Amino acid sequence: MSSYQAGNLSTLEKVVSLAKRRGFVFPGSEIYGGLAGTWDYGPLGVLVKENIKREWWKHMLREDHIYPLDAAILMNSKVWKASGHLEHFSDPLAECKKCQKRFRVDEVKKACPECSGELTDVRQFNMMFKTHAGPAEDSSVEVYLRPETAQGIFVNFKNIVDVFHPTFPFGIAQIGRAFRNEITPRNFLFRSREFEQMELEYFVHPDKADEYFKDIRKMRMDWFWGLGVRKENIRFRDYSKDELAHYSKATTDIEYRFGLSEDGFSELEGIANRGDYDLTNHSKFSGEDLKLEGVTPYVIEPSLGLDRAFLAFLMDAYQEEEAKGEKRVMLKLHSKLAPKKVAVFPLLANKPRLVEKARAIFETLKLEAGSWGLGAAIAWDDRGNIGKRYFAQDEIGTPWCVTADFQTLEDDTVTVRERDTTKQERLAVQELANYFSSKLNV
Ligand code: GAP
Repeated sequence: MSSYQAGNLSTLEKVVSLAKRRGFVFPGSEIYGGLAGTWDYGPLGVLVKENIKREWWKHMLREDHIYPLDAAILMNSKVWKASGHLEHFSDPLAECKKCQKRFRVDEVKKACPECSGELTDVRQFNMMFKTHAGPAEDSSVEVYLRPETAQGIFVNFKNIVDVFHPTFPFGIAQIGRAFRNEITPRNFLFRSREFEQMELEYFVHPDKADEYFKDIRKMRMDWFWGLGVRKENIRFRDYSKDELAHYSKATTDIEYRFGLSEDGFSELEGIANRGDYDLTNHSKFSGEDLKLEGVTPYVIEPSLGLDRAFLAFLMDAYQEEEAKGEKRVMLKLHSKLAPKKVAVFPLLANKPRLVEKARAIFETLKLEAGSWGLGAAIAWDDRGNIGKRYFAQDEIGTPWCVTADFQTLEDDTVTVRERDTTKQERLAVQELANYFSSKLNV
Protein backbone atom coordinates (compact mmCIF):
# COMPACT_ATOMS: atom_id res chain seq x y z
CA MET A 1 0.00 0.00 0.00
CA SER A 2 2.94 2.32 0.67
CA SER A 3 6.66 1.89 0.79
CA TYR A 4 6.72 2.87 4.46
CA GLN A 5 5.94 0.52 7.29
CA ALA A 6 5.69 3.20 9.95
CA GLY A 7 2.92 4.60 12.13
CA ASN A 8 -0.61 3.44 11.60
CA LEU A 9 -0.20 1.66 8.30
CA SER A 10 -1.76 -1.50 9.62
CA THR A 11 -4.67 0.56 10.93
CA LEU A 12 -5.18 1.91 7.43
CA GLU A 13 -5.31 -1.61 6.03
CA LYS A 14 -7.77 -2.70 8.68
CA VAL A 15 -9.95 0.31 8.00
CA VAL A 16 -9.96 -0.41 4.26
CA SER A 17 -11.14 -3.93 4.97
CA LEU A 18 -13.76 -2.89 7.52
CA ALA A 19 -15.01 -0.17 5.18
CA LYS A 20 -15.72 -2.74 2.49
CA ARG A 21 -16.99 -5.51 4.78
CA ARG A 22 -19.49 -3.27 6.54
CA GLY A 23 -20.63 -1.12 3.62
CA PHE A 24 -18.83 2.16 4.18
CA VAL A 25 -16.69 2.32 1.01
CA PHE A 26 -16.31 0.03 -2.01
CA PRO A 27 -13.70 0.17 -4.78
CA GLY A 28 -15.12 2.06 -7.79
CA SER A 29 -16.47 -0.06 -10.72
CA GLU A 30 -15.41 -3.17 -8.85
CA ILE A 31 -17.20 -5.81 -10.94
CA TYR A 32 -15.23 -4.57 -13.98
CA GLY A 33 -11.90 -4.77 -12.21
CA GLY A 34 -12.12 -1.28 -10.74
CA LEU A 35 -10.90 2.12 -11.90
CA ALA A 36 -7.81 3.40 -10.16
CA GLY A 37 -8.36 6.37 -7.90
CA THR A 38 -12.15 6.03 -7.59
CA TRP A 39 -14.19 4.88 -4.61
CA ASP A 40 -17.92 4.38 -4.06
CA TYR A 41 -19.49 5.20 -0.72
CA GLY A 42 -21.92 2.58 0.55
CA PRO A 43 -24.93 3.14 2.83
CA LEU A 44 -22.93 3.67 6.04
CA GLY A 45 -20.27 5.73 4.31
CA VAL A 46 -22.90 8.09 2.94
CA LEU A 47 -24.26 8.65 6.45
CA VAL A 48 -20.80 9.38 7.90
CA LYS A 49 -19.99 11.71 5.03
CA GLU A 50 -23.28 13.56 5.52
CA ASN A 51 -22.49 13.87 9.23
CA ILE A 52 -19.06 15.36 8.51
CA LYS A 53 -20.60 17.80 6.07
CA ARG A 54 -23.29 18.78 8.55
CA GLU A 55 -20.70 19.47 11.25
CA TRP A 56 -18.61 21.51 8.81
CA TRP A 57 -21.57 23.59 7.69
CA LYS A 58 -22.60 24.18 11.32
CA HIS A 59 -19.08 25.32 12.10
CA MET A 60 -18.86 27.59 9.04
CA LEU A 61 -22.32 29.11 9.20
CA ARG A 62 -22.18 30.01 12.92
CA GLU A 63 -21.55 33.55 11.81
CA ASP A 64 -23.95 35.25 9.45
CA HIS A 65 -21.17 36.84 7.41
CA ILE A 66 -20.32 33.44 5.91
CA TYR A 67 -22.29 32.76 2.71
CA PRO A 68 -22.87 29.22 1.43
CA LEU A 69 -22.41 28.51 -2.27
CA ASP A 70 -22.76 25.59 -4.68
CA ALA A 71 -21.02 26.47 -7.95
CA ALA A 72 -20.88 24.40 -11.15
CA ILE A 73 -18.08 21.88 -11.65
CA LEU A 74 -17.60 22.88 -15.28
CA MET A 75 -16.37 26.43 -15.67
CA ASN A 76 -15.33 28.74 -18.49
CA SER A 77 -11.76 27.74 -19.40
CA LYS A 78 -10.57 31.31 -18.89
CA VAL A 79 -10.98 30.68 -15.16
CA TRP A 80 -8.07 28.22 -15.24
CA LYS A 81 -5.90 30.58 -17.20
CA ALA A 82 -6.55 33.37 -14.72
CA SER A 83 -6.10 31.12 -11.69
CA GLY A 84 -2.74 29.84 -12.94
CA HIS A 85 -3.89 26.21 -13.02
CA LEU A 86 -3.28 25.77 -16.75
CA GLU A 87 0.30 26.88 -16.26
CA HIS A 88 1.16 25.62 -12.79
CA PHE A 89 -1.13 22.79 -11.73
CA SER A 90 1.18 19.97 -12.63
CA ASP A 91 3.32 17.26 -11.12
CA PRO A 92 6.77 16.19 -12.33
CA LEU A 93 6.46 13.01 -14.40
CA ALA A 94 9.02 10.57 -15.76
CA GLU A 95 8.61 7.40 -17.79
CA CYS A 96 10.60 4.19 -17.42
CA LYS A 97 12.49 3.50 -20.66
CA LYS A 98 12.24 -0.23 -20.05
CA CYS A 99 8.70 -0.96 -18.83
CA GLN A 100 7.08 2.34 -19.96
CA LYS A 101 5.38 2.88 -16.58
CA ARG A 102 4.96 6.52 -15.54
CA PHE A 103 5.76 7.92 -12.11
CA ARG A 104 5.64 11.10 -10.09
CA VAL A 105 9.30 11.93 -9.83
CA ASP A 106 9.45 13.13 -6.24
CA GLU A 107 8.26 9.67 -5.27
CA VAL A 108 10.70 7.45 -7.16
CA LYS A 109 13.72 9.66 -7.68
CA LYS A 110 16.41 7.88 -9.76
CA ALA A 111 15.33 4.51 -11.17
CA CYS A 112 12.04 2.79 -11.96
CA PRO A 113 10.68 1.26 -8.73
CA GLU A 114 9.08 -1.59 -10.70
CA CYS A 115 11.97 -2.84 -12.84
CA SER A 116 14.92 -0.56 -11.93
CA GLY A 117 14.98 0.67 -15.54
CA GLU A 118 16.34 4.06 -16.51
CA LEU A 119 13.89 6.98 -16.39
CA THR A 120 13.31 9.59 -19.09
CA ASP A 121 13.85 13.29 -18.42
CA VAL A 122 11.23 14.85 -16.22
CA ARG A 123 8.32 16.72 -17.77
CA GLN A 124 5.44 18.58 -16.17
CA PHE A 125 2.12 16.73 -16.29
CA ASN A 126 -1.00 18.90 -15.87
CA MET A 127 -3.42 17.21 -13.49
CA MET A 128 -6.65 18.74 -14.75
CA PHE A 129 -9.12 16.41 -16.47
CA LYS A 130 -10.09 17.80 -19.84
CA THR A 131 -13.35 17.25 -21.72
CA HIS A 132 -15.48 19.04 -24.32
CA ALA A 133 -18.68 21.00 -23.88
CA GLY A 134 -21.14 20.27 -26.69
CA PRO A 135 -20.89 17.98 -29.72
CA ALA A 136 -17.68 19.34 -31.26
CA GLU A 137 -14.30 18.23 -29.96
CA ASP A 138 -11.99 21.04 -31.05
CA SER A 139 -9.91 23.10 -28.67
CA SER A 140 -12.39 26.01 -28.67
CA VAL A 141 -14.84 23.95 -26.60
CA GLU A 142 -12.35 22.37 -24.22
CA VAL A 143 -13.44 22.51 -20.60
CA TYR A 144 -11.86 21.17 -17.43
CA LEU A 145 -13.30 19.41 -14.43
CA ARG A 146 -12.41 21.71 -11.56
CA PRO A 147 -9.35 20.60 -9.57
CA GLU A 148 -10.43 22.72 -6.58
CA THR A 149 -13.77 24.20 -5.58
CA ALA A 150 -12.18 27.53 -4.64
CA GLN A 151 -12.36 29.05 -8.13
CA GLY A 152 -16.16 28.69 -8.16
CA ILE A 153 -16.09 30.95 -5.12
CA PHE A 154 -13.79 33.59 -6.64
CA VAL A 155 -15.90 33.91 -9.78
CA ASN A 156 -18.95 34.52 -7.57
CA PHE A 157 -17.26 37.11 -5.35
CA LYS A 158 -18.90 39.96 -7.28
CA ASN A 159 -22.35 38.34 -7.20
CA ILE A 160 -22.23 37.95 -3.42
CA VAL A 161 -20.95 41.50 -2.93
CA ASP A 162 -23.60 42.97 -5.24
CA VAL A 163 -26.52 41.03 -3.76
CA PHE A 164 -25.64 40.85 -0.04
CA HIS A 165 -23.43 43.96 0.47
CA PRO A 166 -21.03 42.43 2.98
CA THR A 167 -18.32 44.46 4.69
CA PHE A 168 -14.87 43.22 5.81
CA PRO A 169 -14.40 40.45 6.77
CA PHE A 170 -16.77 38.02 5.07
CA GLY A 171 -16.51 34.49 3.72
CA ILE A 172 -17.95 32.19 1.08
CA ALA A 173 -18.07 28.49 1.88
CA GLN A 174 -18.63 25.55 -0.39
CA ILE A 175 -18.62 21.76 -0.44
CA GLY A 176 -18.26 20.05 -3.79
CA ARG A 177 -16.51 17.59 -6.04
CA ALA A 178 -13.01 18.16 -7.34
CA PHE A 179 -11.08 16.09 -9.86
CA ARG A 180 -7.35 15.58 -10.27
CA ASN A 181 -5.69 13.26 -12.70
CA GLU A 182 -3.22 12.10 -10.06
CA ILE A 183 -0.29 10.24 -11.60
CA THR A 184 -0.34 7.67 -8.82
CA PRO A 185 -3.59 7.63 -6.83
CA ARG A 186 -2.97 5.56 -3.73
CA ASN A 187 -3.69 4.78 -0.13
CA PHE A 188 -7.44 4.35 -0.36
CA LEU A 189 -9.29 7.66 0.01
CA PHE A 190 -6.11 9.58 0.78
CA ARG A 191 -5.22 10.32 -2.83
CA SER A 192 -7.93 9.66 -5.37
CA ARG A 193 -8.84 11.16 -8.72
CA GLU A 194 -12.35 12.23 -7.75
CA PHE A 195 -12.99 13.61 -4.27
CA GLU A 196 -14.87 16.28 -2.38
CA GLN A 197 -13.50 19.45 -0.88
CA MET A 198 -14.90 21.66 1.84
CA GLU A 199 -13.49 25.12 1.37
CA LEU A 200 -13.94 28.52 2.90
CA GLU A 201 -12.57 31.63 1.19
CA TYR A 202 -12.45 34.32 3.85
CA PHE A 203 -12.09 37.82 2.38
CA VAL A 204 -10.24 40.13 4.71
CA HIS A 205 -8.61 43.53 4.69
CA PRO A 206 -4.93 43.00 3.72
CA ASP A 207 -3.75 44.67 6.95
CA LYS A 208 -5.58 42.04 9.00
CA ALA A 209 -4.64 38.95 6.98
CA ASP A 210 -2.00 37.62 9.40
CA GLU A 211 -4.34 37.96 12.34
CA TYR A 212 -7.21 36.10 10.62
CA PHE A 213 -4.82 33.43 9.37
CA LYS A 214 -3.92 32.66 12.99
CA ASP A 215 -7.56 32.67 14.12
CA ILE A 216 -8.63 30.32 11.34
CA ARG A 217 -5.76 27.92 12.02
CA LYS A 218 -6.91 27.65 15.62
CA MET A 219 -10.59 27.41 14.73
CA ARG A 220 -9.95 24.53 12.34
CA MET A 221 -7.88 22.54 14.83
CA ASP A 222 -10.59 23.07 17.46
CA TRP A 223 -13.10 21.57 15.03
CA PHE A 224 -11.13 18.34 14.72
CA TRP A 225 -10.55 18.15 18.46
CA GLY A 226 -14.24 18.81 19.10
CA LEU A 227 -15.11 15.82 16.93
CA GLY A 228 -12.88 13.62 19.02
CA VAL A 229 -9.66 13.35 16.97
CA ARG A 230 -6.92 12.33 19.39
CA LYS A 231 -4.45 15.14 19.98
CA GLU A 232 -1.40 12.94 19.55
CA ASN A 233 -2.54 12.10 16.01
CA ILE A 234 -3.01 15.60 14.63
CA ARG A 235 -0.68 18.58 14.36
CA PHE A 236 0.16 21.78 12.48
CA ARG A 237 2.98 22.04 9.99
CA ASP A 238 4.04 25.41 8.61
CA TYR A 239 5.41 25.51 5.06
CA SER A 240 8.81 26.93 4.27
CA LYS A 241 8.90 29.62 1.55
CA ASP A 242 10.11 27.25 -1.18
CA GLU A 243 7.23 24.81 -0.59
CA LEU A 244 4.46 27.36 -1.15
CA ALA A 245 1.95 26.90 -4.00
CA HIS A 246 1.98 29.50 -6.78
CA TYR A 247 -0.81 31.51 -5.13
CA SER A 248 0.22 31.33 -1.50
CA LYS A 249 1.87 33.85 0.86
CA ALA A 250 1.79 31.44 3.81
CA THR A 251 0.45 27.92 4.31
CA THR A 252 -0.01 25.72 7.33
CA ASP A 253 -1.19 22.16 6.99
CA ILE A 254 -3.16 20.31 9.57
CA GLU A 255 -1.54 16.90 9.39
CA TYR A 256 -2.94 13.59 10.56
CA ARG A 257 -0.98 10.49 11.48
CA PHE A 258 -2.13 8.41 8.47
CA GLY A 259 1.06 6.33 8.73
CA LEU A 260 2.04 6.96 5.12
CA SER A 261 5.25 8.93 5.54
CA GLU A 262 8.46 8.42 7.45
CA ASP A 263 7.23 10.24 10.55
CA GLY A 264 3.66 9.05 10.02
CA PHE A 265 2.08 12.47 9.43
CA SER A 266 0.56 13.71 6.13
CA GLU A 267 -1.66 16.58 5.02
CA LEU A 268 -5.26 16.46 6.08
CA GLU A 269 -6.26 20.10 5.54
CA GLY A 270 -4.39 23.04 4.01
CA ILE A 271 -4.78 26.55 5.40
CA ALA A 272 -3.40 29.21 3.08
CA ASN A 273 -3.07 32.95 2.97
CA ARG A 274 -3.69 33.36 -0.78
CA GLY A 275 -3.11 37.11 -0.62
CA ASP A 276 -4.86 39.00 -3.43
CA TYR A 277 -3.56 36.58 -6.07
CA ASP A 278 -6.91 35.17 -7.20
CA LEU A 279 -9.05 38.31 -7.19
CA THR A 280 -6.33 40.37 -8.85
CA ASN A 281 -5.95 37.84 -11.64
CA HIS A 282 -9.67 37.30 -12.14
CA SER A 283 -10.12 41.06 -12.25
CA LYS A 284 -7.39 41.33 -14.88
CA PHE A 285 -8.70 38.48 -17.05
CA SER A 286 -12.43 39.25 -16.74
CA GLY A 287 -12.23 43.06 -16.74
CA GLU A 288 -14.51 43.16 -13.65
CA ASP A 289 -13.82 45.24 -10.56
CA LEU A 290 -13.30 42.74 -7.73
CA LYS A 291 -12.73 45.08 -4.83
CA LEU A 292 -14.43 45.64 -1.52
CA GLU A 293 -14.39 49.02 0.24
CA GLY A 294 -11.89 50.19 -2.38
CA VAL A 295 -9.29 47.45 -1.85
CA THR A 296 -8.65 44.02 -3.29
CA PRO A 297 -9.22 41.68 -0.35
CA TYR A 298 -6.73 39.10 0.83
CA VAL A 299 -8.06 35.57 1.11
CA ILE A 300 -7.56 33.14 3.97
CA GLU A 301 -8.51 29.66 2.85
CA PRO A 302 -8.98 26.55 4.97
CA SER A 303 -9.38 23.69 2.48
CA LEU A 304 -10.28 20.22 3.69
CA GLY A 305 -10.66 17.08 1.63
CA LEU A 306 -13.89 15.46 2.79
CA ASP A 307 -12.70 11.98 1.89
CA ARG A 308 -9.40 12.51 3.68
CA ALA A 309 -11.31 13.73 6.74
CA PHE A 310 -13.54 10.65 6.51
CA LEU A 311 -10.44 8.44 6.48
CA ALA A 312 -8.84 10.29 9.40
CA PHE A 313 -12.00 10.01 11.52
CA LEU A 314 -12.29 6.29 10.81
CA MET A 315 -8.62 5.57 11.47
CA ASP A 316 -8.67 7.59 14.65
CA ALA A 317 -11.75 5.76 15.88
CA TYR A 318 -10.52 2.26 15.02
CA GLN A 319 -9.74 0.12 18.07
CA GLU A 320 -9.36 -3.52 18.87
CA GLU A 321 -9.86 -5.04 22.28
CA GLU A 322 -9.77 -8.53 23.71
CA ALA A 323 -13.01 -9.29 25.53
CA LYS A 324 -13.76 -12.74 26.95
CA GLY A 325 -11.27 -14.32 24.60
CA GLU A 326 -12.83 -12.63 21.60
CA LYS A 327 -11.53 -9.73 19.57
CA ARG A 328 -13.80 -6.70 19.77
CA VAL A 329 -13.35 -4.29 16.86
CA MET A 330 -14.70 -0.88 17.59
CA LEU A 331 -15.12 2.41 15.76
CA LYS A 332 -15.08 4.86 18.62
CA LEU A 333 -16.59 7.55 16.42
CA HIS A 334 -17.91 10.73 17.98
CA SER A 335 -21.67 10.30 18.30
CA LYS A 336 -22.15 13.23 15.88
CA LEU A 337 -20.28 11.27 13.20
CA ALA A 338 -21.50 7.72 13.86
CA PRO A 339 -23.65 6.49 10.96
CA LYS A 340 -26.11 4.80 13.30
CA LYS A 341 -26.72 6.40 16.68
CA VAL A 342 -28.91 3.74 18.27
CA ALA A 343 -29.57 0.09 17.43
CA VAL A 344 -32.69 -1.60 18.76
CA PHE A 345 -33.11 -5.35 19.16
CA PRO A 346 -35.16 -8.04 20.82
CA LEU A 347 -33.15 -10.16 23.25
CA LEU A 348 -34.27 -13.29 21.37
CA ALA A 349 -35.30 -13.26 17.73
CA ASN A 350 -37.52 -16.34 18.02
CA LYS A 351 -39.93 -14.90 20.62
CA PRO A 352 -42.66 -13.08 18.69
CA ARG A 353 -43.81 -10.97 21.66
CA LEU A 354 -40.27 -9.72 22.23
CA VAL A 355 -39.77 -9.01 18.54
CA GLU A 356 -43.08 -7.16 18.35
CA LYS A 357 -42.25 -5.07 21.42
CA ALA A 358 -38.74 -4.25 20.20
CA ARG A 359 -40.09 -3.39 16.78
CA ALA A 360 -42.59 -0.95 18.29
CA ILE A 361 -39.79 0.73 20.25
CA PHE A 362 -37.69 0.91 17.09
CA GLU A 363 -40.51 2.49 15.08
CA THR A 364 -41.25 5.10 17.77
CA LEU A 365 -37.60 6.01 18.16
CA LYS A 366 -37.14 6.22 14.41
CA LEU A 367 -40.10 8.56 14.13
CA GLU A 368 -38.75 10.73 16.94
CA ALA A 369 -35.25 10.75 15.44
CA GLY A 370 -36.84 11.77 12.14
CA SER A 371 -37.80 15.05 13.79
CA TRP A 372 -34.10 15.57 14.68
CA GLY A 373 -33.18 14.87 11.03
CA LEU A 374 -31.71 11.52 12.08
CA GLY A 375 -34.36 9.00 11.07
CA ALA A 376 -31.84 6.90 9.15
CA ALA A 377 -29.57 6.72 12.19
CA ILE A 378 -31.75 4.29 14.14
CA ALA A 379 -30.90 0.67 13.32
CA TRP A 380 -32.80 -2.58 13.71
CA ASP A 381 -31.03 -5.90 14.20
CA ASP A 382 -32.42 -9.31 15.04
CA ARG A 383 -29.77 -11.54 13.51
CA GLY A 384 -27.52 -13.89 15.47
CA ASN A 385 -27.26 -13.75 19.24
CA ILE A 386 -27.16 -10.62 21.35
CA GLY A 387 -23.37 -10.74 21.87
CA LYS A 388 -22.80 -10.88 18.11
CA ARG A 389 -25.17 -7.98 17.58
CA TYR A 390 -23.32 -5.85 20.12
CA PHE A 391 -20.04 -6.64 18.39
CA ALA A 392 -21.50 -5.90 14.97
CA GLN A 393 -22.75 -2.49 16.18
CA ASP A 394 -19.40 -1.74 17.87
CA GLU A 395 -17.69 -2.38 14.57
CA ILE A 396 -19.74 0.27 12.77
CA GLY A 397 -19.48 2.71 15.66
CA THR A 398 -23.05 2.70 17.02
CA PRO A 399 -22.82 4.48 20.39
CA TRP A 400 -25.89 2.88 22.02
CA CYS A 401 -27.83 -0.38 21.77
CA VAL A 402 -31.32 -0.81 23.19
CA THR A 403 -32.51 -4.32 24.03
CA ALA A 404 -36.06 -5.35 24.77
CA ASP A 405 -36.13 -8.42 27.06
CA PHE A 406 -38.71 -10.28 29.13
CA GLN A 407 -38.73 -7.59 31.81
CA THR A 408 -39.69 -5.10 29.10
CA LEU A 409 -42.95 -6.95 28.60
CA GLU A 410 -43.71 -6.48 32.30
CA ASP A 411 -42.54 -2.99 33.23
CA ASP A 412 -41.80 -1.23 29.92
CA THR A 413 -38.12 -0.75 30.63
CA VAL A 414 -35.18 -1.68 28.38
CA THR A 415 -31.42 -2.00 28.72
CA VAL A 416 -29.31 0.68 27.11
CA ARG A 417 -25.75 -0.43 26.48
CA GLU A 418 -22.98 2.04 25.79
CA ARG A 419 -20.39 1.23 23.13
CA ASP A 420 -17.26 2.61 24.79
CA THR A 421 -17.73 1.26 28.31
CA THR A 422 -20.10 -1.66 27.49
CA LYS A 423 -21.97 -0.52 30.63
CA GLN A 424 -25.68 -1.20 30.66
CA GLU A 425 -28.44 0.71 32.39
CA ARG A 426 -32.15 0.19 32.65
CA LEU A 427 -34.40 2.93 31.31
CA ALA A 428 -38.13 3.36 30.83
CA VAL A 429 -39.16 3.14 27.18
CA GLN A 430 -40.88 6.50 27.59
CA GLU A 431 -37.59 8.15 28.57
CA LEU A 432 -35.63 6.94 25.54
CA ALA A 433 -36.30 9.80 23.15
CA ASN A 434 -35.31 12.44 25.71
CA TYR A 435 -32.31 10.44 26.82
CA PHE A 436 -30.90 10.17 23.29
CA SER A 437 -31.82 13.68 22.22
CA SER A 438 -29.89 15.09 25.17
CA LYS A 439 -26.93 12.71 24.59
CA LEU A 440 -26.85 13.75 20.94
CA ASN A 441 -27.43 17.38 21.75
CA VAL A 442 -30.14 17.70 19.10
N1 GAP B 1 -8.02 25.27 -2.82
C1 GAP B 1 -6.81 24.81 -2.22
C2 GAP B 1 -6.51 23.42 -2.51
O1 GAP B 1 -7.16 22.78 -3.30
P1 GAP B 1 -4.88 21.45 -1.85
O2 GAP B 1 -3.90 21.38 -0.72
O3 GAP B 1 -4.42 21.12 -3.22
O4 GAP B 1 -5.46 22.94 -1.78
C3 GAP B 1 -6.87 20.77 -0.32
O5 GAP B 1 -6.14 20.56 -1.50
C4 GAP B 1 -7.26 19.47 0.34
O6 GAP B 1 -7.93 18.63 -0.59
C5 GAP B 1 -6.06 18.63 0.80
O7 GAP B 1 -5.62 19.05 2.08
C6 GAP B 1 -6.68 17.25 0.85
O8 GAP B 1 -7.40 17.07 2.05
C7 GAP B 1 -7.64 17.27 -0.30
N2 GAP B 1 -7.07 16.61 -1.49
C8 GAP B 1 -6.24 17.15 -2.39
N3 GAP B 1 -5.93 16.25 -3.35
C9 GAP B 1 -6.60 15.12 -3.04
C10 GAP B 1 -6.71 13.83 -3.65
N4 GAP B 1 -6.09 13.54 -4.79
N5 GAP B 1 -7.50 12.90 -3.05
C11 GAP B 1 -8.16 13.21 -1.90
N6 GAP B 1 -8.10 14.39 -1.30
C12 GAP B 1 -7.34 15.35 -1.85
